Amino acid sequence: MAKRLKICINTGGGDAPGLNAVIEAVTMAAYNRQWEVYGIKSGYAGLLNTEEIIQLTPEKVYGIASLGGTILGTTNKGNPFMMPVCNAAGECEQRDLSDRVMDNFRRLHFDALVAVGGDGSLDIAHRFAAKGMPVVGVPKTIDNDMGGTVITFGFDTAVSIATEAIDRLHSTAKSHDRVMVVELMGRNAGFIALNSGISGNADVILIPEIPFDIDKVCEKLMENELRGHKYAIMVVAEGALPKGGDVITKGAAEPGRQHVILGGIAEYVAKEISQRTGKDSRSMVLGHLQRGGSPTTFDRLLSLRFGAAAVRAIEQGKFDHMVGLQSPDIVLVPLEKALGMQKRVRVDGDTVLTGRDLGICFGD
Ligand code: F6P
Repeated sequence: MAKRLKICINTGGGDAPGLNAVIEAVTMAAYNRQWEVYGIKSGYAGLLNTEEIIQLTPEKVYGIASLGGTILGTTNKGNPFMMPVCNAAGECEQRDLSDRVMDNFRRLHFDALVAVGGDGSLDIAHRFAAKGMPVVGVPKTIDNDMGGTVITFGFDTAVSIATEAIDRLHSTAKSHDRVMVVELMGRNAGFIALNSGISGNADVILIPEIPFDIDKVCEKLMENELRGHKYAIMVVAEGALPKGGDVITKGAAEPGRQHVILGGIAEYVAKEISQRTGKDSRSMVLGHLQRGGSPTTFDRLLSLRFGAAAVRAIEQGKFDHMVGLQSPDIVLVPLEKALGMQKRVRVDGDTVLTGRDLGICFGD
């Protein structure tokens, strides 16, 4: 008779619609094999302080696939290999607490961990695999920048929310003959801005992969003006940057955080446009709305498929791998390989070419 396993699952990094669907699928697939499943709270923190580990049962996860967020909580500041430990004066130092995580994992007799996260969390998973923890990764991020999978869950939802927001901007921009500049998430990848900008009929799309020249952007707006198209919609990825310039950040990374917080490029671009063209311009930041609420059907199904595939991977003993979509199949990719293949928008890919054929300006 097959061994009845005891597995656990955590969700790390920024949340993304679909996390709860992965949790539901992992729990149900494990339950249907008569395994036990436990939920680790707040990324890896729950394996440092184990009091909050909860048993997941069909009753606990029933119907959560349609809910946004994660019932397990998450954090993007909880790397046990570099955990910030701060004193009362606010001075922090980074400590390696990974052995404590390993000890707790073994003490609780877990047979495997399903680690759901983006590049940061899956890099941590890979490091734990090297220390002997049986881990299977599930790639998550609205940014869609993970290698080894054609798409990550959360991305489709973020693009849908962004497209709806862009659609809504048209009427107000048109009423005032204004330039509306909307800033979207994506970190150093322009997928959300590109896909929603094309779908939402933007005039200009600025993405990190194509550094922009503000003069080219102004030329495009003035050409439109001459043709009687007096308003414009500009979609700007938060990681977009001018040629020869740098990204705009909101200051240094907080202790324990892998990435700096990007933000401010839309405001910068809107001001430049007003000054150079005299056009009335406004900027807005869509922000965390892109991560909130229910996953789309696509994300829900992908997350359920990823979760179930992760349990099958454990059954096969295929550790230090992550699940990924290589359409139409869910495949297993070595974590090391996936982590070394960060994805960016292909500037010669057909989506950018489609935008150019539609007359969209990329600022180059
Ligand atoms: O990686 C997901 C993401 O939403 C990025 O698009 C964005 O730059 C970042 O996380 C925001 O992080 P936080 O939620 O910590 O502000």
